[in-house]
Amino acid sequence: MATSDNNVGLGDEHVAVQKLQPQATIYERLLKLGAFFKQQYDAEPEFYVRVPGRVNIIGEHVDYCGYSVLPMAVEQSIILAVGSNPQKAELQLRPLDKGKFQSFDSDLNALDIKLPKTGGPAWYNYYLCGIKGVQEQLGKKWRPIGMQVALSGNVPLAAGLSSSSALVSAAVLATAHVQGMQLDRKLLASISASCEQYIGTHSGGMDQAIAYLAKKGCAQHIEFHPKLKGTPVTLPAGSCFVVANSLVQKKKAASSDYNERVVECRLATRWLAKSQKLPNWQDFIRFIDLEEECNLDNAAYAQLIEKQLRKSLYTRDDICEALGITEQQLEKDFLTPSTQHMQQFKLRQRALHVIQESGRVVKFRQICEQLQRRASKQDIEQLGKLMQQSHASLRELYECSHPDLERLVALSTKQGVSARVTGAGWGGCIVAMCDSVSAAADYVKVLKREYYAQLPAHLLERYQPNDFNEVVFATVPSNGAELFVQ
Ligand code: GLA
Repeated sequence: MATSDNNVGLGDEHVAVQKLQPQATIYERLLKLGAFFKQQYDAEPEFYVRVPGRVNIIGEHVDYCGYSVLPMAVEQSIILAVGSNPQKAELQLRPLDKGKFQSFDSDLNALDIKLPKTGGPAWYNYYLCGIKGVQEQLGKKWRPIGMQVALSGNVPLAAGLSSSSALVSAAVLATAHVQGMQLDRKLLASISASCEQYIGTHSGGMDQAIAYLAKKGCAQHIEFHPKLKGTPVTLPAGSCFVVANSLVQKKKAASSDYNERVVECRLATRWLAKSQKLPNWQDFIRFIDLEEECNLDNAAYAQLIEKQLRKSLYTRDDICEALGITEQQLEKDFLTPSTQHMQQFKLRQRALHVIQESGRVVKFRQICEQLQRRASKQDIEQLGKLMQQSHASLRELYECSHPDLERLVALSTKQGVSARVTGAGWGGCIVAMCDSVSAAADYVKVLKREYYAQLPAHLLERYQPNDFNEVVFATVPSNGAELFVQ
């Protein structure tokens, strides 16, 4: 293996190669995976990788428009045990959690990411994306070095906690290490974000960025423009964040909902750029670039949207006429393979959500910083309000909630707890902010009683033995990607 010993002592901008210590929280899980690796491959793994899932506290559906977000890594993670073989360009994937996943083997000289028309891609394609990303990054320096991998994960699937990006990011880290690359966190996050596009979802870079840039004990304000940057944000002292899974599964890549929103945002940007008579209006597809070009502040941007995008529904004809393009051009330049069917577009609502939500992220960070200087009950309440506004906007303007998420949010409101959908939505989880650990414990008790104990019998059965602790839990910010040797 051409592993990068030069990652030792590079500082926390790089993923360090750490010695696995028995006191590490992940120790037992890694040992179990190591034993499974040995059983599968009759050898010891050369190294282990851990990449966490995430919960986004605020800033939903804004990253692909260039705006910043405020997530933190959760304790749940994807782990890999990896061995390498320069003599044979073969990838071998062996999942420990057998029930859900099948083993997979592939020739590294003939990587093929298959996207079925329905149902979403098979799990191993996320790993293949990661390999492809590193291959592209290395260009001529790429050598197909075989990889033997055992893997396991406890990030809930299709729940908005970013299990798929954790897998892609873990594949990128493992492949980069086998290839002997320097493990620069920002570079690996960018590679992971770009290569996940091969799955067909035009997502932004939030999930991969937090997977690499997260630090224990704080959330991160992640900016993408002009370049990727993470700033630690200390959450209010005593506050406790709870994640509650609605148990409505939503696979982004198996439906067109997510890409439809991306398309609407791009079209709205182009429309607004034209309305400003910019000579290069045809270059704009991200709200943030237009904001910069026209020097707009948040309020002025919202006004511009209200003035220029008056209709609540636009047809293909409306858009073609306004942009001076043909329907074929609309399909070719704006619609992705999964959104070719789109006939109607809600440009005004989507644009307003993105701009207002981006303002809420900045405010949330400012208030958290203020709270570091002096405690204030009003400031804490203000944070709760921002979370509530975010949720209302996602429900009304972005239309990515779900009746079961609404039930969870209503139960939270009744308890005086501010909560919002986290991640892409249409199912998955809510994130809620409680004032203290004991308030969180009470809140979790209520959700267990009023939501989880009322589940239909088939779901109830599944969660009975563990008392729902896997699906509703308080969470603390954990570290980003890690690499261990024994
Ligand atoms: C998914 C995407 C992210 C982001 C969120 C919504 O998690 O992967 O890039 O767009 O949805 O905020």
